[in-house]
Amino acid sequence: MSTTETFEFNKDNLATYKEYLTRYDDVESALLPVLHLAQEQNGWLPDHVVSYISLLMSIPEIKIKEVISFYDMFYDVPVGRNIVQVCTNISCSMFGGREIYQGLLKHFDTGYLTPTRDGRISLQKMECLGACELAPCMRVNDDFVGNLDLTSAIQKLEELP
Ligand code: FES
Repeated sequence: MSTTETFEFNKDNLATYKEYLTRYDDVESALLPVLHLAQEQNGWLPDHVVSYISLLMSIPEIKIKEVISFYDMFYDVPVGRNIVQVCTNISCSMFGGREIYQGLLKHFDTGYLTPTRDGRISLQKMECLGACELAPCMRVNDDFVGNLDLTSAIQKLEELP
């Protein structure tokens, strides 16, 4: 699908990009932090952002798309302002993680990664978040929230900007 949208790093991020390149022996090794940077600026990673990075780094678009689809932390669809990852793996599901995830989808009337109507939240079902001691838990942007039940999870998310 062709698109007329364009993207380029803003001045600060272009400087950050150049600084990233000094940390690695080859350009390709900087791809993950560069994708984080682009996603931070654009919110998600659509085709025109991938094209820009491909030209900038001389990496084929297909390779960049493979990386984006491999990692849960990169989004090739539009997402809400806040990313909420709910763990449904074994430790968390023993304490109701799956029910919490389903309950949140229902409460916010949304689906996997689909932004809520107000654009505030995208919910993402996850495998182990590496915080089993907090089971059942979720990650809200960069913060872990644990020992949840559906009521406390909803309350936490209703406070988000
Ligand atoms: S199983 Fe949920 S954080 Fe590990």
